[in-house]
Amino acid sequence: MKTRKGIILAGGTATRLFPLTTAISKQLLPVYDKPMIYYPLSTLLLSGAREILIITTPRDVQSFKNLLGDGSDWGVRFEYKVQDKPRGLADAFIVGEEFIGNDDVVMILGDNMFYGQDFTVMLKRARDREDATIYGYLVKDVSSYGVVEMDSKGKAISIEEKPEHPKSNYAVPGLYFYPNDVVEIAKNVKPSPRGEIEITSVNMEYLKAGRLKVDKLGRGFQWFDTGNPSSLLDAGNFVKSVQERQGMYICSPEEIVYNYGWIDNAQMEKLVEKHSKVEYGDYLRSLLK
Ligand code: G1P
Repeated sequence: MKTRKGIILAGGTATRLFPLTTAISKQLLPVYDKPMIYYPLSTLLLSGAREILIITTPRDVQSFKNLLGDGSDWGVRFEYKVQDKPRGLADAFIVGEEFIGNDDVVMILGDNMFYGQDFTVMLKRARDREDATIYGYLVKDVSSYGVVEMDSKGKAISIEEKPEHPKSNYAVPGLYFYPNDVVEIAKNVKPSPRGEIEITSVNMEYLKAGRLKVDKLGRGFQWFDTGNPSSLLDAGNFVKSVQERQGMYICSPEEIVYNYGWIDNAQMEKLVEKHSKVEYGDYLRSLLK
């Protein structure tokens, strides 16, 4: 089993959500009953990452610290770094170089939500690989994403960022597993026409080297990005309907760390107490063994 460092990119100005985000980070907005960042954070925790770097803006870093602290409540460790301006997703590996050290990495975008059966199995498979792993997800209108084209065996042939004429309908969601040399690769990426060092350029390097795996997320799988008011509401409605119907919560970090044995019963009881006025606390209490 490999351990990987986790990174959440929670920067940006989120102008597509103004006025919601005029004064607050997008990744702190509610997705139904939890702050948005709980969802990508849960994905990293599920993958087994216990040391996580949160990259955000100078304006928002204190708010994230107020929400998440140093991670000790959840038996994990959080670090924070600020990015003074958004320079592209691949910049996360340059900002995070010291944090990454000699380890491999899993990176997720702070507005990406994943939910589906056997996701933990998929995450662990990617975690344990030597090669890089990205995902492919069928989307009707794919041109606002990274797009991956695959052959009949599912092997990647090309990857393009926001292509005008997409070669497939497989979007590349914002969840990436890389070997440690991603730091060096990111440093050598040339800025794109929009002036950013693109994650797609990093993926192309791994593709060229024959070191990129693409795992498909099937049709029963949910992937949301929450970049505009409509997709934000869709995500919230989805969480509400599943939770009410099944009585199981989507992306509760407390549940994950408790199930992984990273916190004990006494600590879980404290977390229940903290949420004693809300249904979330009832849910956490119901998990106590
Ligand atoms: C970014 C990536 C893109 C990816 C998308 C997923 O796009 O550049 O390749 O498909 O995230 O959310 P952006 O959010 O920068 O438009």
